[in-house]
Amino acid sequence: MPETRVPRRRRFLVCEPRHFAVQYAINPWMHPDVRVDVDLAQEQWQSLISAYRSHGHAVDAVDPVPGLPDMVFAANSAVVVDGRVFGSLFHAPERRPESEHYDTWFKSAGYDVHRPESVCEGEGDLVWTGRYVLAGTGFRTTREAHREAQEFFGHPVISLTLVDPYFYHLDTALFVLDDDNIVYYPEAFSPGSREVLARLYPDAVLATRDDAEAFGLNSVSDGRHVFIAPQAEALAVRLDERGYVPVPVDLSEFHKAGGGIKCCTQEIRS
Ligand code: ARG
Repeated sequence: MPETRVPRRRRFLVCEPRHFAVQYAINPWMHPDVRVDVDLAQEQWQSLISAYRSHGHAVDAVDPVPGLPDMVFAANSAVVVDGRVFGSLFHAPERRPESEHYDTWFKSAGYDVHRPESVCEGEGDLVWTGRYVLAGTGFRTTREAHREAQEFFGHPVISLTLVDPYFYHLDTALFVLDDDNIVYYPEAFSPGSREVLARLYPDAVLATRDDAEAFGLNSVSDGRHVFIAPQAEALAVRLDERGYVPVPVDLSEFHKAGGGIKCCTQEIRS
């Protein structure tokens, strides 16, 4: 029998999808001619918030801004560790204005925000494991931003190279289960980065391309419950076998923009 996994209460920052749309294409999932059902997107997003709250997590929200259709992807706007906020500098000019709105929220909540000098897309690419930061590069966040983040947090930052444009952010190819383990899709990484992950996490849950395409790697775990796309059925079964409890939340409308559960969620670690 798998051991009993213990959840830890989280504080999440989100942004309502009031102005969500696919109006430009900055990753291979986005096709501006595909219509987004805004009402369905709102319902799906509300179901994520309800799932977090019913599992005991606190949820704060930033006000959405008209003309910023990707602002719903809260993960990209900062990474917060030990109460220190490392803000964002988006790769795409279309998303650059999002940063200041998140910065304003953090400042009003009593945090100072450090703005990176080099392109950095928050928790999309900088993933806190409990001991160090796993940092993606290749499509968005730069190696220079990894260096800046290490200097800022004083925690080791381990650079990993992403190689598949469909998995352009680290959080589309990997997620943290708890302080000891992760799930990842090996083929999304360069050979050397794969070796690094295998050394750090010999017991990791390895995902398939089907799991990754179903946005199964874009999940949020509280150490016990794993909020996961229901399309990632096979991965959910494997997590269950390891003693985690999959909580399916369908964000299919957001997949049209290349985003899922984790993209819509930033964690505030104070
Ligand atoms: N359309 C957005 C972009 O390409 C999606 C962001 C998804 N966020 C994430 N954390 N992976 O920037």
